Amino acid sequence: MGADLELVVGGRPIRFPAIWLRDNCPCPDCLAPGTGQKLKDITDIPNGLAITRTEDAGESVLVTFAPDQHRSAFPRAWLEDHALGDGADGDGRTEDDKELWLPADLGPETGLPAMSWPSYLAGGKAEALEAVLRVGFVLLSGVPAEPGRVLEVAASFGYVRETNYGRLFDVRVEPAPGNLAFTSRAIRPHTDNPYRDPVPTVQLLHCLRAAGEGGDTGLVDGFAAAADFRAADPESFGTLARTPVSFGYVDKETELRASLPLIQLSPSGRVRGVRFNNRSMRPLRRPYAEVTAFYAAYRRWAELLAQPGRQLTVRLAPGDCLVFDNTRVLHARTAFSMSPRSPGRHLQGCYADLDGLASTLAVLTREEGS
Ligand code: OGA
Ligand code: ZN
Ligand code: ZN
Repeated sequence: MGADLELVVGGRPIRFPAIWLRDNCPCPDCLAPGTGQKLKDITDIPNGLAITRTEDAGESVLVTFAPDQHRSAFPRAWLEDHALGDGADGDGRTEDDKELWLPADLGPETGLPAMSWPSYLAGGKAEALEAVLRVGFVLLSGVPAEPGRVLEVAASFGYVRETNYGRLFDVRVEPAPGNLAFTSRAIRPHTDNPYRDPVPTVQLLHCLRAAGEGGDTGLVDGFAAAADFRAADPESFGTLARTPVSFGYVDKETELRASLPLIQLSPSGRVRGVRFNNRSMRPLRRPYAEVTAFYAAYRRWAELLAQPGRQLTVRLAPGDCLVFDNTRVLHARTAFSMSPRSPGRHLQGCYADLDGLASTLAVLTREEGS
């Protein structure tokens, strides 16, 4: 009789608490056979559980629990796959599961993660989506340069995140611009919509018409930058990870507000998100000492993000559609010229989410693997 199960699998000892085993019992009373969903709540499981008997059944181990004599069969292979302490609770979203880059790393040999839309549709989708998760973006070319097509790209891997801007938004010069994006001015590296919680985690920008000159897109790997920032100035890094910053957006119909740190960490302290957008930052209302520490750290972070060699330049041509992780990759554009004779630069954008993208990739890989 004991509180644990100890096994030697593949030459190494592994140990599971009785409560963990019981909570994961695969019998049809505990787990719905069709859906694999749990049928028992933690409070349905007796407290003070113990293991009274273990039997070797070849591929499985049979476990009997006290006080209720419940019996469970655990496949050995499953137990091995679920050994505790392997740090396997990562969700794929932190710096640990990414390939961090500087533009120099995406040089002639490796190239940019890019694919033509026809190749994407003809079996390349998994590779393109995997690049978004690993590198933070993919550049699709040959998406017909027609209004609304950006929604088809988003729908090919997930769900369009409709916002107060609509299902999609136009980025072009407007006579009475409500946003810097709708002028021909440069926009420095930023993440979109930091005033939403949850923030849209995927952004798409589709080029319908390029500018005659300028309007080049810049991309910065915010996770690579954050890792370098932590190494160079751990104190400032900590300040930004701890200080909630309010962002806001207000117009006639809308009043959005969110308050989160510029660098978001996972429960184990790894970089899991960046928010950076000076346009929509609201006044900080922390105590005086925190505010001064924040501003020093914020300036250092902005300087690091603007270091030469950090920004990848991509010139979007009509038909190019950039799909990127808005929790990680900052985007920018250079100023552009307006010719009185040409119709002018025009992009269309929309938002989607990483969970849907990751799900589509997982299903595609599952089908390929089986
Ligand atoms: C945007 C934006 C960049 C561009 O609309 O969010 O940053 O290239 N646009 O115009
Ligand atoms: Zn059971
Ligand atoms: Zn933007």
